[in-house]
Amino acid sequence: MVKKLLVQATADEDRFLQSHADSVRQSVADIWAMRAGLELSVSAGYAIIIRELLETGAEKPVLELCCEAAADEIGHAQLCLDLAERIDGRKRAWPAPASLHVPNYAGLASGSLLTALHLVAMSCLNETIACVRLLEAIALAQCPSAKHALQLILSDEIGHARSGWAHLASRHVTAAMKLQIAARVPDLIDASMTSLIEENASIPTEEFAIWGLPSVDIARAHAQKAVSEIVIPGFERLGLAVQT
Ligand SMILES: [Fe+2]
Ligand SMILES: [Fe+2]
Repeated sequence: MVKKLLVQATADEDRFLQSHADSVRQSVADIWAMRAGLELSVSAGYAIIIRELLETGAEKPVLELCCEAAADEIGHAQLCLDLAERIDGRKRAWPAPASLHVPNYAGLASGSLLTALHLVAMSCLNETIACVRLLEAIALAQCPSAKHALQLILSDEIGHARSGWAHLASRHVTAAMKLQIAARVPDLIDASMTSLIEENASIPTEEFAIWGLPSVDIARAHAQKAVSEIVIPGFERLGLAVQT
């Protein structure tokens, strides 16, 4: 695993940071530090999915992409902590351990359909949506190191999103499974939007967008755009007739 590093602070960045009050920088840094914990929960999610893929069957490239994702998310957590420190000068502890619950979905305790649903939710939805949101956040960011961190994260998230699409396109997801997945996609979208809103609830205003943190309303709008312009067409292209 390659540890992600922020670039050296520049005069531009010093000027940007010094033009904002300490209280604002601390609030922004706290949100970035909180995101480190979220990145670790995504890594844990991939760890569960990797085990399920190994037990129920997957193509080697899908396994490789998921293993890379599990490692990348650890790097993202470090990047968030480094960025928080850059913004307000305060070093923060590595996030505390946390338990993770993955949905079982009605009547599915295990098996290849549950595995596919977990990967579709994580990758085709969350990671694909994240790619669009990151792209939009980069355009709004003015803090140089925040922009750089978002670019580093985006370069990984593209691969993470590919894992789910590749699995859906593989022989391990049958036509019968696609029918069942398609029927559950509206619920998966609702769940993805709910967690996105929870994760961004601490960003109520648009003032933090210059720090790489678009408001919860902007995040929701970008997510809806990703769903309608990429996710749903992607499902249709792979033979999933999704009723939205
Ligand atoms: Fe991430
Ligand atoms: Fe990711």
